Amino acid sequence: MFPTERPRRLRRTPALRRLVAETNLAPHDFVAPLVVADGIDEPRAIASLPGQFQHTIPSLVDEVRALHHAGVGGVILFGVPSTKDERGSGAWDPEGVAQVALRTLRDEFGDDVVVMADLCLDEYTSHGHCGVVRDDGTVDNDATLELYGRVAVAQAKAGAAVVAPSGMMDGQVGAIRDALDQAGFPETIIMAYAAKYASGLYGPFRDAVGVEIVGGGDRKAYQQDPRNRREALREARADVDQGADIVMVKPAMSYLDVVSDLRDELDVPLCAYHVSGEYAMVKAAAANGWIDGTVVAIEQLTAVRRAGADFVLTYFAREIAEELGR
Ligand code: PBG
Repeated sequence: MFPTERPRRLRRTPALRRLVAETNLAPHDFVAPLVVADGIDEPRAIASLPGQFQHTIPSLVDEVRALHHAGVGGVILFGVPSTKDERGSGAWDPEGVAQVALRTLRDEFGDDVVVMADLCLDEYTSHGHCGVVRDDGTVDNDATLELYGRVAVAQAKAGAAVVAPSGMMDGQVGAIRDALDQAGFPETIIMAYAAKYASGLYGPFRDAVGVEIVGGGDRKAYQQDPRNRREALREARADVDQGADIVMVKPAMSYLDVVSDLRDELDVPLCAYHVSGEYAMVKAAAANGWIDGTVVAIEQLTAVRRAGADFVLTYFAREIAEELGR
């Protein structure tokens, strides 16, 4: 006669709902992606990412201070150089903008802020690919590995606690681990973009860092095919075997099945990257009054945690950390 299952009992008040919540969101669950650019005097707003900037070194320091104050778990740095070349040598130049920024953050915040460095060549290469390009236009996997090792050592020297290879070359984690260990950086952490898909959701980011693949190419020959799920496990296991300390799934919302799989199968910390396009979609719909941006951001970030990610890289880091702190 009466329903025996009454889950609504536990939903009656905010206090009850909080008590039985399975997933909670806290500021330390977020890592903020930050862009620092060479050759600018003022921070530059990124049109496709409302609220995000290409930073100068001083504005970067201010932003990291605000993020630290809001309790955010860490920051991941992307550099925009003023000149590019075939091999992307700015990526390992000790005076390159990312390295200067890393040293500054190290001096300013020490170990109080977890500072990560995205490790790739695409911002630094004239052709826009993530590795060394052969005459026929394809990316040479093994020739790229040696360069990634150089970048890792330069970033570690400059003070990065974590290096995050995002280029999807086979063997990149092992090559970077070897290079770091040989250079005397056994404590530098590797956070591998393990399952990084060839996604349409990176569009605003490529604007933000001024990366365009010459000739209208794409990254489908090295990033994963969105049609594949099992393959992510193969990628992530390979990275863990090579020494990855943390693995990442990217993008986040369209790949929660992958997040869930990796959580079930692996013991290492797992994160997901809520990417530029995901942020931009929420911001654009909210600006039109079609959704409540804050509610949707919290819902999405919670979903990423619920699927099994320990933390989330997100452009919402500061905004939502401040919101949660209210
Ligand atoms: C590659 C890199 C990209 C992103 C992070 N690292 C772009 C790409 O693969 O084309 C995307 C981040 C985002 O969209 O927020 N260095």
